[in-house]
Amino acid sequence: TSSSSTSGKVTVAVESARCQVKDNSLFSTYTYENAVVEKKEDGTLKVKPTSTDYEFKLDLSVPKTGLLLIGLGGNNGTTLAASIFANRQKMKFDTKQGEIEANYYGSVTQSSTIKLGVDADGHDVYAPFNEVVPFVHPNDLVVGGWDINDANLKEAAQRAQVLEVSLQQKLSKQMESIVPMPSIYYPDFIAANQTERANNLINPKGSAIENDKWAHVEKIRKDIKEFKSKNCLDKVVVLWTANTERFSGLIDGVNDTAENLIKAVKQSHEEVSPSTIFAIACILDNIPYINGSPQNTFVPGCIELAEKNNSFIGGDDFKSGQTKMKSVLAQFLVDAGIRPISIASYNHLGNNDGYNLSAPQQFRSKEISKASVVDDIIASNQLLYNDKLGKKIDHCIVIKYVQAAGDSKVAMDEYYSELMLGGHNRISISNVCEDSLLATPLIIDLVVMTEFLSRVSYKKKGVQDTEFEPLHSVLSFLSYWLKAPLTRPGYTAINGLNKQRTALENFLRLLIGLPSLNELRFEERLH
Ligand code: NAI
Repeated sequence: TSSSSTSGKVTVAVESARCQVKDNSLFSTYTYENAVVEKKEDGTLKVKPTSTDYEFKLDLSVPKTGLLLIGLGGNNGTTLAASIFANRQKMKFDTKQGEIEANYYGSVTQSSTIKLGVDADGHDVYAPFNEVVPFVHPNDLVVGGWDINDANLKEAAQRAQVLEVSLQQKLSKQMESIVPMPSIYYPDFIAANQTERANNLINPKGSAIENDKWAHVEKIRKDIKEFKSKNCLDKVVVLWTANTERFSGLIDGVNDTAENLIKAVKQSHEEVSPSTIFAIACILDNIPYINGSPQNTFVPGCIELAEKNNSFIGGDDFKSGQTKMKSVLAQFLVDAGIRPISIASYNHLGNNDGYNLSAPQQFRSKEISKASVVDDIIASNQLLYNDKLGKKIDHCIVIKYVQAAGDSKVAMDEYYSELMLGGHNRISISNVCEDSLLATPLIIDLVVMTEFLSRVSYKKKGVQDTEFEPLHSVLSFLSYWLKAPLTRPGYTAINGLNKQRTALENFLRLLIGLPSLNELRFEERLH
């Protein structure tokens, strides 16, 4: 059905001794340089540069890829499906401001560029992000998914009130033909106000498998297998964009290890959430699983299960509006030597996400996720945050449901900071986020990047007889798009947006044999 397949398009040709194509794979060598720092007793820091040689391998063939969304009938789910259909057909539609042609604005992979180098005159030259190495194109994704509500996507998009009416009309036939697969519903995990939506269930009340959680895992595995074979897919990525759940209690013997977690599912333990059930089903079959909501789907046992199965996971919670600004602004203030003392963040929104978040336990999940975003930024500057001055920013988060706001979430933030000699600076931001139009391009990026990262493998150079290995199961390269980045156990999250983007750019560069980006600009600055 794809009329403009552009998966795998590459417009960058590198001549580098550090990379070569062999057997449809791109091999490159890279010297990873860092420094190990040791704090001496007298407070001085002893720094020793380190370097490690790696060999990377990128499989150049882009697989036929499917995307299964949990929450397909929601605002994000319907907007995602519509955006792919509209772009695939290069659709034009009328708005009050005139004709719009479908695009993927807001997507890093589809609508941004990365710097390659300089031209003969020393001026920067950029290339589209997705034309440096082969990526799957979103137009080629086969989309499906689950929802606890049985509305077809035409009705669901009407309910969402996100898309221009003229676009809804143009897409109506295609959207109408898609009905989400039944899903699993444990009423205790999402707000009670969602009950009336739950009419499309694998485990309806009174059914034989109502409370049989292992049967739910098996059903999801079967759904994925059938979707894959019916659409002749090579690869499937599954992503949670369903309602925010409450946190699962972390209980020793239940979800602390992979083995205990599987046992708990088999005993249908009440603390195993629907999102963890989906994650387990995916992990068992090596299907990458991304969590776009704030809840702790990835309990320690779930992460261990992914590591054991070499299966990819990523999360948590899309970083779309307010938090994205925060991860730029807080970093900027602290890096400028200014000392933020308080950040007050208000939100009001009127979509179903807001309705669900109006329940205390679901709000709590969101609050935790939003609050963590400045932690690493504070920790990076001991001159501004220390035992004497205090190590915290007073960070307050409020979310209110105001139906009239619909999907146009309003975010108001005040950054109050200390300047030199007792002065103060107050920055106030009012940000209207058309929520799903911001979140949908993030879903596209998460899927495109996950598919891509799963084609990369590496080995340490000079180590004899080792095989190329995949990246670690926890795909923290995805942090750019996530509010509370999941990290490999033992590591802390990096939230600063620029750091996250730098990692992505340099990773693409090293795969094509280019050195990491630096902004030294010697062409200009030296004679
Ligand atoms: P929504 O409420 O419109 O859609 C969620 C959908 O999930 C609904 O259709 C609901 O019926 C369905 N659902 C609930 N439980 C389910 C289950 N167990 N299985 C299958 N489907 C289930 O919400 P929206 O606006 O699409 O957001 C989705 C999620 O993404 C929310 O958790 C939200 O917090 C998160 N998110 C959204 C952002 C944004 O839109 N900018 C930013 C960050 C996170």
